[in-house]
Amino acid sequence: MKIVMLGAPGAGKGTQAMMISEKYGLPHISTGDIFRANIKNGTELGMKAKAFMDEGRLVPDELTVELLLDRVKEEDCRNGYVLDGFPRTIPQADVLTEALAKSGDKVDYAINIDVPDENIVRRMSGRRACLNCGATYHIEHIPPKKEGICDVCGKELVQRDDDRPETVLKRLGVYHEQTQPLIDYYEKAGVLRNVDGTRSLEEVFSDIVKLLED
Ligand code: AP5
Ligand code: MG
Repeated sequence: MKIVMLGAPGAGKGTQAMMISEKYGLPHISTGDIFRANIKNGTELGMKAKAFMDEGRLVPDELTVELLLDRVKEEDCRNGYVLDGFPRTIPQADVLTEALAKSGDKVDYAINIDVPDENIVRRMSGRRACLNCGATYHIEHIPPKKEGICDVCGKELVQRDDDRPETVLKRLGVYHEQTQPLIDYYEKAGVLRNVDGTRSLEEVFSDIVKLLED
């Protein structure tokens, strides 16, 4: 099962991708998490990516595409994966489609989590993230058991550098311009599934499970 998560920044792609990954035993691959891990470890890729991310812009395709193609060639991806944050542009989607077509394969589901812009900024200001394992919380909606500490791995939770309100607005603009066209792209490919992302995370997840098992 090869799944692509679509949706605006803060729609809940990471939250749902993690739940899908656990339920179906598929690796959760987030290009944002990979970049943040590189930033934390001070790698050259991390330093390059940080400049774009802090401004709410997309990291250039040269730094993103090879990284993703290498990752999905790894052994744990042979039964499928959940992509979160990739593709984000039509050229990225084309690269993925072509790479899969070489082995007679394709994306099985593109799950679009629909959340209006008004809800997004509020969600982002309360988000807390674990840079160690990728788990995501919200101080009101989805709090960790112990304040500031990740339930999954026990490491400290942080507020992401790109979650300042002005950067969130910039990211939303970039989303509408460059990423939203992927909804049409996957609709034409016959694999698009829409879910209403404004409800509780359990309700959103139950919709996703239904459509995957239909
Ligand atoms: P990335 O890390 O992918 O960020 P994003 O797409 O902006 O999405 P987010 O992670 O902010 O949101 P999400 O949809 O995962 O929501 P979450 O589950 O956390 O990318 C960051 C940057 O990296 C980009 O701006 C770009 O620069 C670069 N980048 C990454 N990939 C790239 C690519 N392919 N090409 C180029 N550049 C790339 O949920 C949000 C909050 O809401 C959380 O607090 C959560 O707890 C809460 N929440 C979730 N679901 C619910 C619910 N149902 N009800 C209430 N609260 C909820
Ligand atoms: Mg995310």
